Amino acid sequence: MVEGFLAVGVTTSIFVVLSAVLLVAEKYLADYGDCVITINDGSSVLEQKGGSSLLSALIENKVFIPSACGGKGSCGFCKVEVRTGGGSILPTETPFMTRKEIKSGIRLACQVKVKQNLEIAIPENLLSVKEYNATVGSELYLTYDIKEVTFDLIEPTEIEQQPGQYIQIRAPGPDGPIFRAYSISSPAYEKNKVQLMVRLIPGGIASTYIHGLKVGDKVMFTGPYGEFELSEDEATDIVCVGGGAGMAPISSIIHYVYSKWANRRVYLFFGCRTTKDVFYLDEFKKLREKYPNFKIIYALSDPIEEGEEWDGDTGFIHLSVDKHLESGKKSQAFLCGPPPMIEAVTDVLGEKGLKPEDIFYDKF
Ligand SMILES: Cc1cc2nc3c(=O)[nH]c(=O)nc-3n(C[C@H](O)[C@H](O)[C@H](O)COP(=O)(O)OP(=O)(O)OC[C@H]3O[C@@H](n4cnc5c(N)ncnc54)[C@H](O)[C@@H]3O)c2cc1C
Ligand code: FES
Repeated sequence: MVEGFLAVGVTTSIFVVLSAVLLVAEKYLADYGDCVITINDGSSVLEQKGGSSLLSALIENKVFIPSACGGKGSCGFCKVEVRTGGGSILPTETPFMTRKEIKSGIRLACQVKVKQNLEIAIPENLLSVKEYNATVGSELYLTYDIKEVTFDLIEPTEIEQQPGQYIQIRAPGPDGPIFRAYSISSPAYEKNKVQLMVRLIPGGIASTYIHGLKVGDKVMFTGPYGEFELSEDEATDIVCVGGGAGMAPISSIIHYVYSKWANRRVYLFFGCRTTKDVFYLDEFKKLREKYPNFKIIYALSDPIEEGEEWDGDTGFIHLSVDKHLESGKKSQAFLCGPPPMIEAVTDVLGEKGLKPEDIFYDKF
């Protein structure tokens, strides 16, 4: 019996050691030579030394695709169609794919290794994503853990963006630069600057870096990314629901809407834990004086402490959506915040008659 366990243990150890040796050998000894990456039937052709991930190869050649986790294989954002040369899909990719995507050759670019010539397809709009150099123009704490930071663009000097889009900022990581996604909070008509709202995650690489930035510091980011599609139909109500730094894209959308349609109905539902997490309420109330069809509902999820003043809603924000939003109206919804909030709000919106294609969200 003991001998049997020993044999299994020894065999397992040999496999582990062999796998490690193979991985190291592949990393340092494998030479895949020069490879050609053909994008969108030849609209772009890149020459790249083999061995890196497809994501890194694209970034090196200044082709930027969404990659919110910076290539860790945990966000599922870096999807591209690999037509030839990508090998078989890996178990690390399948959790992010629908059956249809797997059938159509969709892969996670950070998981595909460039070992031979590749033919890939990416959406045309991503080919216009650029790299921006900027300096920090201002910084302001909105709450104890959320900082608003403005980047003044240096090169290029202007950005074309749609309301609700995001950028990916480069931050120094322990093993080299990393990229993280941050929604743009400034309205899309602002061309020369980009404003973000960043919540400090204790121990978080990029959020700590951004919180440490000072006016005048240089930064680099790529963008814009994101698929929020704001309807141009004034009769379509806009429902914005957020929590924490999820205010960023929502604020951008609200200011953009009222720069174009003074009478459009916009609902803002914003969930906070306590009064310490409340921000922008006074600014939005001022905006409502000008645009009476702007409905503002803030809700606190933690019990109100003794002596605290609060005349807004209480409870989770999906309950406020359920309470205040009329059913059956033509609406579009934009949700930004933690996954449980997005899921609960999506259910309520479905009950109110919104179709899945009218609900856009960023989970973070
Ligand atoms: C499309 C999109 C838009 C985004 N927009 C914004 C934005 O406007 N403002 C903003 O502040 N963030 C935003 N994020 C989140 C942001 O990209 C980073 O994930 C976040 O700032 C953490 O990065 P980090 O490098 O500081 O932490 P990391 O170094 O990546 O993580 C450190 C640790 O914190 C954990 N962690 C990571 N994120 C969170 C979290 N949100 N809450 C709790 N623990 C976490 C990790 O699991 C890890 O253990 C957005 C994300 C996406 C996908
Ligand atoms: S970059 Fe996040 S999964 Fe590929």
